[in-house]
Amino acid sequence: MLIAQLSDPHIDATRPEKAAAFARAVAHVQALPMRPDAVLITGDCTDHGQADEYDTFAALTAPLDMPVYVIPGNHDDRAAMLARYGHLGTGHLDGFLQYVVDDLPVRVIGLDTLLPGQGAGELDSARLDWLDARLSEQPQRPTLIFMHHPPLLSGLDIMDSIGLRGTQQLCDVVLQHPHVARVVAGHVHMALTAGFGNSTVMTCPGTDTTFQPDLSRPEILIVQYQPPLCLLHAWSEKTGLVSFTRVIDQTPWSVLHDGQGWMG
Ligand SMILES: [Fe+2]
Repeated sequence: MLIAQLSDPHIDATRPEKAAAFARAVAHVQALPMRPDAVLITGDCTDHGQADEYDTFAALTAPLDMPVYVIPGNHDDRAAMLARYGHLGTGHLDGFLQYVVDDLPVRVIGLDTLLPGQGAGELDSARLDWLDARLSEQPQRPTLIFMHHPPLLSGLDIMDSIGLRGTQQLCDVVLQHPHVARVVAGHVHMALTAGFGNSTVMTCPGTDTTFQPDLSRPEILIVQYQPPLCLLHAWSEKTGLVSFTRVIDQTPWSVLHDGQGWMG
């Protein structure tokens, strides 16, 4: 079984280069030598949550001939996404785009961390109780959780100030369910891996811009273009869940914001 992950396309009607970058990412996934069984897009599908941006996003994902699963990021609009994607999966939590994908060898659970009007994300008790109940249903099956805000600290002040509220409570839930093989997310526009309870959290960089960590200056955020990445989460009885990082294309490196101001 193979699950491809893309993140943070930030479709913006005024910035056609973002749509072009996402189109290249979709074409890359569609042309992979190993055909994915599903594609996860871990939020910030659009930059402003507007209807025309979702129209573009939907048109750009249309070439994918396998199931595509989405959850909202902080730039998205929950109501707009529920209207378009509320049918995805099973076991929905009312009022949120949270659901289970149950027809793959690995059980996949999408979490909705959107906190309207804020960059930070949240998992409140309703969303966490729902997760605990879903995880309790099939304790023998390896399970992958996907969400927008990762439950980790990057060390970069700006990103950590808009991180996930409820990380410790989520960790407490995951610790009760050792079949959580992986937690995957987006939001930080970097490829990060960290321990999380007895599991592992990984982030997929955006198909759009990437943040360059400079931990000697944690107060700044360097924004750049660089070759974008997708993640491939492969599972077999023999290997368990193994995640690969794959370069989408050779977008040249260029700094857009050096931590002091925008270039050019
Ligand atoms: Fe983003």
